[in-house]
Amino acid sequence: MNNNNFGLTRSPSAILFGDGQRHALGRVTAHVGQRALICTDERLSISPLLEEMLQDLTRNGVAYRVFDGTQPELPSDGIETCVQEHRAFNPDVVIGLGGGSCLDMAKLVALSLSHGGSLEHYYGELKVPGPVLPVIAIPTTAGTGSEVTPVAVMADKKRDLKVGISSPYLIPHIALCDPELTVTCPPGLTALSGADALTHAIEAFTAVANPADPLLSQSRVFVGKNLLSDQHALTAIKAIFEYLPRAVENGADREARSQMMFGSLQAGLAFGVAGTAAAHAIQYPVGALTHTAHGLGVAALLPYVMRFNAETHLHAYVAIARAIGITTASPEQAVDELIHQTRQLLNRIGIPRTLADLGVQKSQLDWIAEQSLLSARLINNNPRRLELGDLQLLTRRAFHGHL
Ligand SMILES: NC(=O)c1ccc[n+]([C@@H]2O[C@H](COP(=O)([O-])OP(=O)(O)OC[C@H]3O[C@@H](n4cnc5c(N)ncnc54)[C@H](O)[C@@H]3O)[C@@H](O)[C@H]2O)c1
Repeated sequence: MNNNNFGLTRSPSAILFGDGQRHALGRVTAHVGQRALICTDERLSISPLLEEMLQDLTRNGVAYRVFDGTQPELPSDGIETCVQEHRAFNPDVVIGLGGGSCLDMAKLVALSLSHGGSLEHYYGELKVPGPVLPVIAIPTTAGTGSEVTPVAVMADKKRDLKVGISSPYLIPHIALCDPELTVTCPPGLTALSGADALTHAIEAFTAVANPADPLLSQSRVFVGKNLLSDQHALTAIKAIFEYLPRAVENGADREARSQMMFGSLQAGLAFGVAGTAAAHAIQYPVGALTHTAHGLGVAALLPYVMRFNAETHLHAYVAIARAIGITTASPEQAVDELIHQTRQLLNRIGIPRTLADLGVQKSQLDWIAEQSLLSARLINNNPRRLELGDLQLLTRRAFHGHL
């Protein structure tokens, strides 16, 4: 239970959800601007889907330019290239079309075009000085939730680490969520992006609940677990537990695709205010060492983080267990069953079981623990206090597969 009744939701001014909603793009954009810069990637640039959307923009009197050079995990030099190539076009709206990398690209391009300077100035929380160009976010994976979140993540080429920029100004103006856009996701991508969404939802629901403070929402981007984020998180967890295996095993299953996009959207609404915690803190150095996708890393770590946190903070995990229909009598047994079912789900969809499976070497574990501790925001958002020794223990368990 939360120790107070504080609740916070931050979201786009409109969320359009459902099969075929992409066809609203022209109308929606025309209400926001007349010159649209579309940030996407090579895969979509040759797809008839993009051609359809461009025609729709033209029919609605919107001029556009397309940047199709977005790379997965978003290396920073690609953002600079996009800004340089399209500054002269002077867009008044930026459309992100693709996976989380394209959506984050659109947010950071909008930031750069609005406020200038190096993106380094904005790393961290609440450094964005004011509103940015309106962003319309159209996800084609069901995972990151970036279409509703206040954060954009990029790979800083100079530091060889992923970095985040978090500000309510980065929440897209409009999220246009059309589950039909995800039917082309192959099983591996469906699995890792869906597992990313599950991790968002579980970490948001089990994050710290901060003491009552009327200024919390004004002084922090991520405020911890709260009355409203809990509802979004539980809704997400239920949908993802039920539908992720179906979406992975049969990509043409429309109901599963729809429920997964719904689940990832709900997870985004949850963690966009509550924040994430230990699994995300540890994934950053793991990703830097192994160059594995964000979703694979956080999901591989998730069961170990759940076990570690549940040792001292059982109640939130019991609530999740009950929500997904685990009726086992004792709270301890319910949580054991929840962790077991989470492990089974992740195994079934092919998520690596250990840090060793992700390519981490034993000699790298202490470095990973030290680097994780530097993500103070995520570490402080973890329900169980984390010192260096705890992170060393957690990474060792995750390396050896000790649940
Ligand atoms: N801003 C946020 O709130 C947030 C949250 C979590 C993760 N992230 C970031 O998002 C990025 C990961 O995003 P992602 O997991 O969506 O993957 P992605 O955007 O990196 O895309 C991965 C690959 O999938 C392909 N792809 C995308 N949609 C497809 C489709 N419908 N069919 C076939 N292929 C498709 C892309 O072309 C690309 O090659 C990382 O950089 C991560 O750090 C951001």
